[in-house]
Amino acid sequence: MNIAQALEIKGEIDSYERQEAAWLLEHILGINALELKLRLEQELTEMQEQAYLDGLARIEQGEPLAYVIGSQPFWTLDLKVTHDTLVPRPDTEILVETVLKLPLNSQANIVDLGTGTGAIALALASERPQWQVTATDIYEPTLDVAQDNAVRHGLMQVKFACGAWFEALEQQQFDLIVSNPPYIDPDDVHMQKLKSEPERALIADKQGMADIEIIITQGQDWLKPNGWIVLEHGYDQGSAVCEIFEQLGFEQIQTIKDYGGNDRVSLGQKQA
Ligand SMILES: C[S@@+](CC[C@H](N)C(=O)[O-])C[C@H]1O[C@@H](n2cnc3c(N)ncnc32)[C@H](O)[C@@H]1O
Repeated sequence: MNIAQALEIKGEIDSYERQEAAWLLEHILGINALELKLRLEQELTEMQEQAYLDGLARIEQGEPLAYVIGSQPFWTLDLKVTHDTLVPRPDTEILVETVLKLPLNSQANIVDLGTGTGAIALALASERPQWQVTATDIYEPTLDVAQDNAVRHGLMQVKFACGAWFEALEQQQFDLIVSNPPYIDPDDVHMQKLKSEPERALIADKQGMADIEIIITQGQDWLKPNGWIVLEHGYDQGSAVCEIFEQLGFEQIQTIKDYGGNDRVSLGQKQA
């Protein structure tokens, strides 16, 4: 089987399925998109063909491509991904963009709670090398992946701590708390499609609001005056998140939409 024939197995030309098959082949052959296009006549070895067919079968069964190839691009970084981590989503880059626009000082002390692959913490550390960045997660194997990603990208200034939300941290005051916490209602129909990813990364009680509530309520005590909390949340949770910020006296409260036009990130600033 040559590359052209391998690609034809999956989907129509220009379909997402065909693109995914191309990414899988690029990974197996260790070549980029342009090289793949220029080598359509190249024959696959027996091992390459088997790896490709196995990969396609896993994707067919609903596994994200990121788990099959073991990595996912996020921001400017290529991140290691395992079954212990959520696959970082493009919409989470909205949170990174939002934070980079905030008026934070050059030595800001920040924390990313529930860091997963380290996506948010490492993207911010790569853009603001002077910031003191801490990344936490409740699950040690997840944190190991985040630490591997820090090493992979030479972002050795990032510190890691394991534990439930603020319990992971030594007493200190932050300029910024960020998090993309679990926010899906356990009964949400979308959970059917997310079965390959860890439940601990996705589900929260109180219609998905339980962890968001904890982070804002406890977070106010961990913030410096004028410090910010910036959170990702579900498309229908923007007003509920803003209400919590309002009840606790936060200012500059706003919700930012994602690339699909849905409410996705909300933020508030602690009073001076
Ligand atoms: C939605 S994932 C986000 C991962 C990553 N920040 C991202 O945006 O791709 C939520 C993460 O929070 C972690 N988590 C869940 N409950 C937690 C808790 N009580 N304390 C700390 N982390 C928690 C999960 O292990 C998971 O890595």
